[in-house]
This record gives sequence, structure tokens and C-alpha cells, in this order.
Amino acid sequence: MALQEIAVVTGAASGIGQACAELLAARGDIVIVADIDLDRARGVADAIGGSARAWRIDVSDEGSVSAAADAIESEVGPVTKVVANAGVLQSDIALPEALTVAEWHKVMDVDLLGVFLTNRCFARAMAKRGRGAIVNIASIAGMRAAPLHVYSPAKAAVIHLTQNLAADWGRSGLRVNSVSPGFVRTPILKQAIADGHRDVSLLEQNSALGRLLEPEQIARATAFLLSDDADGITGVNLPVDNGWLVTGSLHTWGGLRPSRVEAEA
Ligand code: NAI
Repeated sequence: MALQEIAVVTGAASGIGQACAELLAARGDIVIVADIDLDRARGVADAIGGSARAWRIDVSDEGSVSAAADAIESEVGPVTKVVANAGVLQSDIALPEALTVAEWHKVMDVDLLGVFLTNRCFARAMAKRGRGAIVNIASIAGMRAAPLHVYSPAKAAVIHLTQNLAADWGRSGLRVNSVSPGFVRTPILKQAIADGHRDVSLLEQNSALGRLLEPEQIARATAFLLSDDADGITGVNLPVDNGWLVTGSLHTWGGLRPSRVEAEA
């Protein structure tokens, strides 16, 4: 039987991170459910059961990430898989003129600096051992123009940072990739829809497959990139978006074609 690996997922107390933690655990990994909200992280780790453990981490705080990485290595064992998923959404689709500097720093600190610190602190030990895989959760918002003047640039930078780190750590046996989800039915998005910041029918209509994503779909792509099945893949950004990226240009040509599925008799 293959040795159990240790996987750390940040932001794992909710949404996509939770789905990643559940899937990796179901496939045999010892999962660290790392989140700023320790109570909710404990709830997720307890529900997963087995060897899953909750850990408090604030990805925007270097001391917190560094201490967590050291403590997990010494108390649990050698980490080989990391999902840098923790993130916050911009609180409003603000005009650039209205975006506050405080909001800029809040989003950048978690969504970009947090990803960098997570990569750097956990790579320390993995690079010395010459083995490890990291997946950074970016976004399609980092791949196209969007009215999210801090979230979108933060995610674009995560995609670029992923390439830099993949190049830097490749000779140390580390693979670093990013996954860019489309619109996923998670608490963060459900709240944005409830607050009127997102129109669910527009989100569905503007993807080739015509629906929202479920967190498990992002988790499956992430688990693939962490696995040895992806041992030749590093530095890529994998969109998991139900075909949102390919629909935009079709509007110039009269929009998406209707379904040709024949109704059952
Ligand atoms: P969520 O709000 O359900 O979960 C985010 C988790 O991160 C929460 O448990 C929260 O406590 C934790 N967190 C926030 N700040 C933290 C910090 N400083 N340190 C540690 N943990 C922290 O969000 P969701 O939707 O699951 O998003 C996860 C990731 O996926 C984020 O990076 C988000 O930007 C990205 N994403 C989400 C999309 C969606 O449609 N839901 C689309 C594209 C990207």
C-alpha cells in the first residue's frame, strides 16, 4: 500500500478548500484543514474524521504561516502536497474611483501575499527533501478584464507567481501549478448573489456548459495536479470554468448556439 501523504489545504473550513480537503482525505491523504477560523476548521476536520487535523493559520501573516509550517512538519510529518486556496472576495464591484486603499490591502494581503507566504513557508522543507506539489487557487477573474479592480489583479498575479515559483523550484523537485475556477456555488458566491452583487442567470448563461460549478469539480482538478498523474506538469494554469473563457468572443457572432439535444419522445 502507498504511504499516506500529508496534504495542507488553506481556507479549508469552507467552499472549495473544504471540498479539496474532503477529496484528498477520501483518497488516502492525511489532511490538515488550515483556516483562520479554527472553530469551523475543527468542524470540517471532525466531519472528515480519521487522521484529519484542524490548524489555525492566517495566510496574510508571515509569522502565522511560518509557525504553522514548522509545527505541522514536526508534529504531523513531512508535507508533500499544499493547496493555497484561502482567499477573500472584494466586498463590492466598486468603480475604480471608489475602491478604497484599505480594501486594496485587505484583498491583496490574503489573495496574493497569502499565496506567496504559503508557497514559501511550506516549500522550505519540501525543497530540501526534493519532493512536493503545490496548487494555487487563482480565478478566471485573473485571466480577463473584470470590474474587480483589486481581486482580479491579485488573481492574475497568482497565475504569474505560479510560473515564477515553478521555474525556481523545479530543480528541487517541486511542481507548482494553479487552478482558475469559474463561478463556483460556494458560500462566498452564494452571499454575493444574495447581496445582489452577482446575477446567477448571467453567470450560468455565459458559460458554454450553461451552469454553475460545484466545489467538488475544482477539488478533482486540484487533486489531479497534486498527484503523480500530473508528474510532468508544472507552471501551468488550469481553468475549470464550464467553458466561461470560450464564450465571450461568441457574442460578436450572435451568441452561443442553442442545444441540439433532442427531446425524449
Ligand atoms: P469561502 O469564503 O467559502 O472560503 C474561503 C475560506 O478562506 C474561509 O474558510 C475563510 O475563513 C478562509 N480565509 C479567509 N481569509 C483567510 C486567511 N487570512 N487565512 C486563512 N484562511 C482564510 O471561499 P471559496 O469560494 O471557497 O473560495 C476559495 C478560493 O477560490 C478563493 O481563493 C477564491 O478567490 C477562489 N475562487 C472562488 C470562486 C467562486 O466562484 N467561489 C471563483 C474563482 C476563484
